[in-house]
Amino acid sequence: MTAPPGLTHVHSGKVRDLYRTGDDRLVMVASDRISAFDYVLDSTIPDKGRILTAMTVWWFEQLDAIVPNHLLSLDDAAIPVEWRGRAVVCTPLAMVPVEAVARGYLSGSGLLDYQATGEVCGVRLPAGLVDGDRLPEPIFTPATKAPRGEHDENVSYDAIVDTVGEQTAAEVRDLTLRIYAHAAELARGRGIILADTKFEFGRDPATGRLVLGDEVLTPDSSRFWPADEWRPGQPQPSFDKQYVRNWLLSAESGWDRKSGDAPPPLPDDVVAATRARYVEAYERLTGERFA
Ligand SMILES: Nc1ncnc2c1ncn2[C@@H]1O[C@H](COP(=O)(O)OP(=O)(O)OP(=O)(O)O)[C@@H](O)[C@H]1O
Ligand SMILES: [Mg+2]
Repeated sequence: MTAPPGLTHVHSGKVRDLYRTGDDRLVMVASDRISAFDYVLDSTIPDKGRILTAMTVWWFEQLDAIVPNHLLSLDDAAIPVEWRGRAVVCTPLAMVPVEAVARGYLSGSGLLDYQATGEVCGVRLPAGLVDGDRLPEPIFTPATKAPRGEHDENVSYDAIVDTVGEQTAAEVRDLTLRIYAHAAELARGRGIILADTKFEFGRDPATGRLVLGDEVLTPDSSRFWPADEWRPGQPQPSFDKQYVRNWLLSAESGWDRKSGDAPPPLPDDVVAATRARYVEAYERLTGERFA
């Protein structure tokens, strides 16, 4: 990948690209790419990168009293003009290799694990819970970061202790649950249920402190449900990419997930409706117009 002047490309994920600056900071660029079922789709969602970046920055501010974050600047000479709004300059962290997931509601892989075993990540749950149910209390359900092209795997807390040590595991778990509780309460006040979410933490090499990195509390890393439409016992309407997954699985897409073929591009109306959901999530949460 060719990098703009002054930047060195270090990593491209499905959605975001990372560059290093000459003075050893990181530039993280959120593209308009969208992934589903671990495929990057051929269609992009206009403005998605800017929406997710603005949302992450807004959340970092809301969480400032609870946890330090990696954000240095949104508006920096290191960021090429054409990336403004979608890119941030941040502190390079030694990332903790854990997807730090908190769940307050039962859905997605948590629901599948529960249906198979009665547990999620080694946490036993009451019998009889259904799709979308609220859990008795939010739980920490870590996953290992899978290599490219593979699924992240839900693991127990003990497995995390084995990987990162007792102290870091406990710190990550406690921070994850504290941030989730605060964010879920804030979102609930704005009519949104934060069903679950994923954080990534890293250590700041300068201070040794655990710092919140990556993107946070976006529709890509979280399940957002309109609270007034919440009905346990069925899949929930959502402001995240569940809409795209549903379309891909519908007869209309003509895609067979089991075929091993890449999914088809999204029709224009599905792209527009997806964009509208991301914008609405941003506007509902922050109370600001997306411009
Ligand atoms: N402050 C930081 N310092 C170092 N790495 C970071 C920092 N913040 C985020 N990262 C890393 O940057 C990457 C963000 O890219 P992205 O999420 O698109 O890709 P990925 O997680 O590697 O792969 P994918 O999400 O496609 O499965 C992640 O690997 C994340 O761990
Ligand atoms: Mg990622």
